[in-house]
Amino acid sequence: MSKKDSEFQVKIMSFLFRGKEIFKPLNTGFIDERVSCIREYVANIYFYTKDGYTIMIDAGYNYDRLEEKMSWLNISPKDIKEILITHQDTDHVGAIERGSDELFSKSTIYIGRIENEYLEGRKRRKVFWGLHKLPQVNIDNKKVLIDDGEVFYIGNIKIEAILVPGHTWGHLVYLIDDTYLFTGDTIWFGADGGYAFLNNLAEDRKLQIKSLKRLEEILRKRNLKLKIITGHTGWTDDIDFAFAHTDEICNSLRRKPKVHDPKAPYDGFDESCDTEENARNVLLEKC
Ligand SMILES: [Fe+2]
Repeated sequence: MSKKDSEFQVKIMSFLFRGKEIFKPLNTGFIDERVSCIREYVANIYFYTKDGYTIMIDAGYNYDRLEEKMSWLNISPKDIKEILITHQDTDHVGAIERGSDELFSKSTIYIGRIENEYLEGRKRRKVFWGLHKLPQVNIDNKKVLIDDGEVFYIGNIKIEAILVPGHTWGHLVYLIDDTYLFTGDTIWFGADGGYAFLNNLAEDRKLQIKSLKRLEEILRKRNLKLKIITGHTGWTDDIDFAFAHTDEICNSLRRKPKVHDPKAPYDGFDESCDTEENARNVLLEKC
């Protein structure tokens, strides 16, 4: 999406969602010694660093201040050789789309084999109950296509991909080093725990719920100590909180969610509280 279209989308979304407590992005900063994060309006992109090597998870909007905010985390775009993509929506791939600033044109992207069908034009992304078709997304980076359950390594970083269709047909979550689960737009954290992600943006709401339950089942069996990190609503290390409402989907058309969340900003697109000083000095709190 062009910068102009991207800015227009931000204005519309800000108007539609203000006061609704839907988006609760993290500010730019660090979750812990391995995971850092950048805020782009209501979206978060993440960096995972191990033994001095950094990979990126999702690519946010086509966002003017990305390089600036990366410098707050002491990361340079040229150091990013690999980017894991949860799904192809423009708030998750903006920095690698044709028409972006091309900070990552040499990076290899990892994306679901099914998700890639959108990029190849064989599937069309639909939202608002199938009524609205979104334009095809163009990405020219080198791609590695990933299947459900695939385990692969980037250096000594272990990555496992789990397919969670529903929001999009080929959405993946990534479990890194059996500890960090990056969920993209699979789970929405309300004040009282996780729900399936927003109803109006889902390709298939029932499938979204089915995928969320399957994900919970897979993770519970493993008995891992997890940090569960979302694309728009922060993070938690409490698996019971994360999967508290797997039967329900977040209804974003309600004026407010049924459980008021005092931590939610009035307008998630207002990022005036996202500062370099905080990014460098304060760890990002969990939900
Ligand atoms: Fe998203």
